[in-house]
Amino acid sequence: MASERERMLNPAAMSASIGVYDSGVGGLSVLRALRAKLPGESFTYVADSGNAPYGDRSDSFVEGRAQKIAQFLWGQGAKALVIACNTASVVAARSLREQYSVPIVAMEPAIKPAVQISHSKVVLVLATSNTIRSPSVARLCSTYGADTQVMLQACPGLADQVERGRFHDDLTQRLLETYLRPGLDAGADTIVLGCTHYAFLVDAIARMAGDAVTIVEPSEAIASQLSRVLSASTTISQGVAPVTTFYTTGPPSELAAFLDSIGEPYTQVHALPASGD
Ligand code: DGL
Repeated sequence: MASERERMLNPAAMSASIGVYDSGVGGLSVLRALRAKLPGESFTYVADSGNAPYGDRSDSFVEGRAQKIAQFLWGQGAKALVIACNTASVVAARSLREQYSVPIVAMEPAIKPAVQISHSKVVLVLATSNTIRSPSVARLCSTYGADTQVMLQACPGLADQVERGRFHDDLTQRLLETYLRPGLDAGADTIVLGCTHYAFLVDAIARMAGDAVTIVEPSEAIASQLSRVLSASTTISQGVAPVTTFYTTGPPSELAAFLDSIGEPYTQVHALPASGD
């Protein structure tokens, strides 16, 4: 009988990379932190940009995409999976954990730390519509938000702007003003970025919110969590030549241009069919 340790390893693992995926480019904010924390590891990143955004899609669509992408990453020999997308995590993390024996790190809006940090006891959570209305977020609010006004703000359109690399244009500014203003006027001193795409807007959000407001961006916490689960279940690689491989269901040239714009190194971006078949 396989030992617990053997069971955790993907038998297809040859170069044993860590699979990371998001609806699109948002998870690159997480990938950056993962690469910094675990410099010896190889990563395989899938941007499902051909199907982005997930924020207003049905749960069954998001679940179906999670299945396809996890299957793909498993076939690539992933030794662990990071769902670098809050929307996919709240919908599909549980079912993926039931099916795959590798460690799976998922995301949810950082409401717990935000409540601890907040002095004004008003916290603004920015996320997609699907994440905002999810049972996971309702549970986080009822568990940690007893003495705090947790304002849940869905942000339709914002992830699309990031997907197009439009971090600073007029529409992005207008959307941010619309989504931040009610929370700021209510005295929020802490803002949770509950969608990985929004990490690319952190400067614009900070400018609008002012110095007195703390922005909670979870990518470093996710990297620490991955490091912990790897040490507990498989091994942390000390690879001499770790590689990160990029796949996208959108046009590869668009992901390549995005990677250039954020200074993320890559050698090639591969195409994946948007259906995942
Ligand atoms: N980046 C994703 C998240 O963290 C989803 C954005 C979208 O596709 O709507 O929620």
